[in-house]
Amino acid sequence: MCGIVGYIGNKNAQDFLIGGLKRLEYRGYDSAGIVTEDDSGQPTLLKAKGKIANLEAKVAKAKREDHAGIGHTRWATHGEPSETNAHPHQAGSIYLVHNGIIENYKELKSKLSTEHNFVSETDTEVLAALINSFYQDGKYPLSNAVVQALKLVRGTYGIAVISTLNSSELVAARAGSPLVIGVGETETFLASDASALIGHTKKAIYLNDGEVATITANQINIKTLDSQPVSARVETIQTDLSAIQKGGYDHFLIKEIMEQPDSLAETLRGRIDLENSLIRLGGPNLSQQELKNIKNIIIVGCGTAFHAGMLASYYIERFADDVTIQPVIASEFRYREAHIPENSVALIVSQSGETADTLACLREIKSQGVKTIGIVNAIGSTIAREVDGGTYVHVGPEVSVASTKAFTSQAIAMIMFGITIAEAKGAKKSLLAPYIEEIAQLPAEIHQLLQTVPGQIRPLAERYAKYDHAIYLGRDTAYPIAMEGALKLKEISYIDANAYPTGELKHGPLALVDDRFFELVLLPDDHLLDKSISGVQEVLARGGKIFAITNGEIDLPADSTLKIDTKLKLLTPVLFNVVCQLFAYYVTIAKGFDVDQPRNLAKSVTVE
Ligand code: G6P
Repeated sequence: MCGIVGYIGNKNAQDFLIGGLKRLEYRGYDSAGIVTEDDSGQPTLLKAKGKIANLEAKVAKAKREDHAGIGHTRWATHGEPSETNAHPHQAGSIYLVHNGIIENYKELKSKLSTEHNFVSETDTEVLAALINSFYQDGKYPLSNAVVQALKLVRGTYGIAVISTLNSSELVAARAGSPLVIGVGETETFLASDASALIGHTKKAIYLNDGEVATITANQINIKTLDSQPVSARVETIQTDLSAIQKGGYDHFLIKEIMEQPDSLAETLRGRIDLENSLIRLGGPNLSQQELKNIKNIIIVGCGTAFHAGMLASYYIERFADDVTIQPVIASEFRYREAHIPENSVALIVSQSGETADTLACLREIKSQGVKTIGIVNAIGSTIAREVDGGTYVHVGPEVSVASTKAFTSQAIAMIMFGITIAEAKGAKKSLLAPYIEEIAQLPAEIHQLLQTVPGQIRPLAERYAKYDHAIYLGRDTAYPIAMEGALKLKEISYIDANAYPTGELKHGPLALVDDRFFELVLLPDDHLLDKSISGVQEVLARGGKIFAITNGEIDLPADSTLKIDTKLKLLTPVLFNVVCQLFAYYVTIAKGFDVDQPRNLAKSVTVE
């Protein structure tokens, strides 16, 4: 979602800020801006609607040798995308960039309107004016003014503030929106996402909620809002530059799809004991007895993470006998008055580890005394730090807004967690071993699929790109894949794609079948294949254009059929998902849309 960068040191601040904003581009935004100041505090404010390239062009015409500044990519919440609403916002000598939402901004705005002439519609400008009113033209230290202002604010924020009266410091604070400080030799960096720091420094300090940092080129001073000093925890950023570059591919999305054999291998590394048919997960922090006692699993996530949870739930209930499993959408669950039974555990699934609704559920569930286990990718993210235990999926940075490699690894990590519960409950080895073996084979199976399917699916994708509507059908473990496949197609190609369980056709979706639609049907060769085929026949009888994906021997007069060659029997839906990812990618290429940054969407949704 919105991105923040900041710099103070001895190098060109504009260069770092623009480079940093480009690294954050993938998170989704609609406008951007930077302000830098020279050593005497003279500011240069530049803003542009649309892509960072527009801002970069403006910077090229207004090049400065300034050594301090802050920048922002905005994803509109209050007020349309425009230069006026873009950050940084100014009040007096204060410039501010902000991620999050100030809920009581209207009330604060009316109190401040006599002393500040508001030009934008944003909640951020209100916060700038509030800080300025406490700063009183430098009468008080900037950090004090920030603290006073934040004590009056309700909502979420990650902020960076500079004053033209003191070009040697910047102040940052967080409540609900991530910020990381990069520690350099004679320079200090700030960003909302560690990817902006890669190549500049490996030393990072992640701010916690309720902390305020005063940053200079050589010093970082962190306090809580109650003025308690915080000792800095310097962590090492493991990611290197190549992980956040396209590496020879045209788009991050295709790079991330193709990476799946390796990214899944990273998820599995050291966690499978094939010889003894055992899964070994260190992170969940649950004793054998605690695992044995589990009777209920809630899986919480949004978007693709939710679909991964749905897929895992179908598998886990196959081998964890007395356990009930509820996958839930975080934005719904957080406002339900759900009763969480005793002996429950919650899996909190998030690639970014920062999704606002998922985080809110984690906090609510934890406050009820329920153990929370993170299935997270981003190391050191808020969810990863707040859960009781967890399993990192270790897929490396996922840059494309549409999530792909994270899905595969999230689903498998959760299935492995389910197996550890089943093991603790004494499930028969003969029941679990086939799943463990297939999990171990999965990276190689995905690798094999990626050798042939891209070439086969591209012409099919070109053929179906002309349709406005698509129905995705699947049943049992293929149903969550239909949901995820439809999500992939709609989010990047803008084709109106919806998923239904094949068995639900007669209860509504059949009415839709006409020549504006195609129907993508997932037909794994399993115990339900014949039933699924009957469903497909009903669509064909009504003139539907079926695109069938199967690993079985089927004889259907489909519009087109793609046959996958695999030895897998239980986990084939995971392969079907990779096919759906490729299909969505090539449809979008055929339509000529922006694959990695679809309109209106953000990678990391840090506001509700
Ligand atoms: C956004 C992204 C999706 C992602 C979802 C959950 O909608 O565009 O790709 O699945 O958020 O994100 P998370 O980081 O919590 O997995």
